[in-house]
Amino acid sequence: MSFRTINFALKILLSVSLLNISCAKHESTSLAPSPTLPMMENSLQKDMPFPMGAAVNVNLLKSNTNYRNLVIKEFNSITAENAMKFAAVHSSKEIWNFTDADYLIDFAIANGKRVHGHTLNWYKSLPDWVNNFQGTAADWENLLKTHIQTVVGHFKGKVVSWDVVNEAIDEDGTMRNSIWVQKLGVDYIGRAFQYAHEADPNALLFYNDYGQEFGPTKRTAILNLVTSLKNKGIPIDGIGIQMHTRVTQTDANLTAAISTAAATGLKIHISEIDIALNPDNNQSMVYTTALADQQAAKYKTIVKAFNAIPKGQQFGITQWNVTDGDSWIPSNYNRPDWPLPFDSNYQRKAAYQGILDGVK
Ligand code: XIL
Repeated sequence: MSFRTINFALKILLSVSLLNISCAKHESTSLAPSPTLPMMENSLQKDMPFPMGAAVNVNLLKSNTNYRNLVIKEFNSITAENAMKFAAVHSSKEIWNFTDADYLIDFAIANGKRVHGHTLNWYKSLPDWVNNFQGTAADWENLLKTHIQTVVGHFKGKVVSWDVVNEAIDEDGTMRNSIWVQKLGVDYIGRAFQYAHEADPNALLFYNDYGQEFGPTKRTAILNLVTSLKNKGIPIDGIGIQMHTRVTQTDANLTAAISTAAATGLKIHISEIDIALNPDNNQSMVYTTALADQQAAKYKTIVKAFNAIPKGQQFGITQWNVTDGDSWIPSNYNRPDWPLPFDSNYQRKAAYQGILDGVK
């Protein structure tokens, strides 16, 4: 067999095995074993027993070959870091722009990646026309419904799952006083799920939030919200645990975030993981082997807790961007930090091994 024939056969085998993680609704989302695959280089997507994802910056995907190749090699699931957010796709009332998001979809199809949609409803990333919108409650309802159904409809059959509502709960466990709550009341959350479900009945629908690992206050509020949605028959399939966390967080809190969410019976997506090494914003901090090892241990703890939940609930683990060089943490918090499993030279860090160790 020529190299090209082998290469072609490999691609077919790969797409067949990846089809298994496109995960039609209510099917198991774990990777089917691929015993027929010849020895390939190690990667997260090959070595982990559940889907492994990254949030992707579309500009970097287009322009940076190292970035693109790392995504192709390591991950079998992708999330748009920003390209599907409200302001990105719906910048004025009558203008829809799916160019970047469609680029991401085409990339995913060409490379056999699952696409998780992020996010249909959030209090951030809203364009001015929404923040300044004047209208009755019915007008706001129409705005919400039209946005959700146009976006979900556009990606129907290509995006397998959505973060429908993002970050609706505050740190103190109360409902965040977002523009959506102000205009529509808290019950809009259930309707957002219904609108998404109408637009694509096969899509898995998630409630996504951060801070489940901070302690019981916010965690309990999130669990109460999703449980009440479920009990009302709202079409919710899963919980996104963002897991923007820090190396100083206790193992008990990290584990409790995952095990208590899994106790709802819903699918669990660790949807945006990064582990900050410099949560106290020390401007002169340097990256050391000791810090790298502590971070690896935290990644291991989280992966181990995820690996312990029932297989059918393991939607996957997604890291928020690809390398320390493209993580949102340093720019967002204006500090040096190294939160991801790859360094800015696209090399695996100790954290990478920590992830593998979590399933040993
Ligand atoms: C962040 C992106 O990473 C940044 O590039 C952007 O400027 C702001 O949003 N929780 C979420 C994500 O749900 O959408 C956020 O992403 C990070 C926090």
